[in-house]
Amino acid sequence: MPVTPRPGLDRIHPYIPGQSPTGGGGPGVKLSANESALGPSPKALEAYQGAADVIERYPDSNAVAVRTAIAGRYGLKAEQILMGIGSDELLGVLVRAYAGAGDEVLYPSATFSMYRIYAHSCGADIVQAPDINYTADVDALLGAMTDRTKVVIVANPNNPTGTYLSISEIERLRAGLREDILMIIDAAYAEYVTKPDYDPGVALVEATDNTAMTRTFSKVHGLASIRLGWCYTHPDIVSVIGKIRSPFNVSSTGQAAGVAAIEDTDHVDKVVAHTAKWQGIATQRLAGMGLDATGTEGNFVCVGFPDEDGKRAKDCDAFLRERNIMTRYMAMFGLPNHLRITIGLDDEMEICFDRVEAFMKK
Ligand SMILES: Cc1ncc(COP(=O)(O)O)c(C=O)c1O
Repeated sequence: MPVTPRPGLDRIHPYIPGQSPTGGGGPGVKLSANESALGPSPKALEAYQGAADVIERYPDSNAVAVRTAIAGRYGLKAEQILMGIGSDELLGVLVRAYAGAGDEVLYPSATFSMYRIYAHSCGADIVQAPDINYTADVDALLGAMTDRTKVVIVANPNNPTGTYLSISEIERLRAGLREDILMIIDAAYAEYVTKPDYDPGVALVEATDNTAMTRTFSKVHGLASIRLGWCYTHPDIVSVIGKIRSPFNVSSTGQAAGVAAIEDTDHVDKVVAHTAKWQGIATQRLAGMGLDATGTEGNFVCVGFPDEDGKRAKDCDAFLRERNIMTRYMAMFGLPNHLRITIGLDDEMEICFDRVEAFMKK
């Protein structure tokens, strides 16, 4: 008899990453994976290269230096920080620790497609609550809670819509959920948000024993390839995750780069300013083409297209691909008539918007 995977795994369709330009059709432009146009801090790069001298040694399993640096930067308790292979690993391990076969993982409708994979990979079912105006709806999430709900995940701000929930809405969600439900705030894009009523949720994590906030070095810090993320949560949850995570999950080069990146606030400010500039230009240019972005709180814009033959998002995706410009078609994220365009360098953005305009005029 052949080996058979655990029930539930047959429900998983593998994650499809944002694609790279393939050559031909024009200069390659990759705006498909929400990477940082400006790359990492030069100091992070230097620290990474310096740490490469000792790669024959296992890294610090407790990642003390980078946890201390994060704690210092944000005024957190270092013992409540967990490091992971990107925030991806932490999201997956949190779901695996608190949900299993027969349980439900609840999250909004148009959101990060990995949540589905994490839930199914531990045998849990998924429940998605409908959004309102491309924004997570706290009442719908609370209404969708059942006896089987074990984990609720909200990306705040949300990928791919760029919308967000105010901290009072996040608190209302937490207050309305049963105490035995783990609430995960996935704040991968927190650094880009400028709205005064936004907060990634540190105080909520500290005030509760059932909330986790995840963050990443892949976006504003421009370190997607080193795979470094972190989570802030209650000490009891830290202990549980500590039992099941891989002991040397975060490399020494990654830890060194992380320390330097978190300390280089000037670089972060530069990235945030570049992103805000292009959010403004994007809104204007899209409006000029009769198109709308769903939200602006991230390093990307998610653009809705007309529901007309030849003018749909998938047509624009094909048009751009022919010209070697890769954006992300959003069907897999629950938005079959949207494209998500990552904010790239100035010339990449000019090229991309010029081509979208040409597509709309054709
Ligand atoms: C909402 C959200 N969460 C988590 C991640 C995972 O990021 P990483 O594993 O690189 O930290 C991403 C990546 O695109 C994301 O958009």
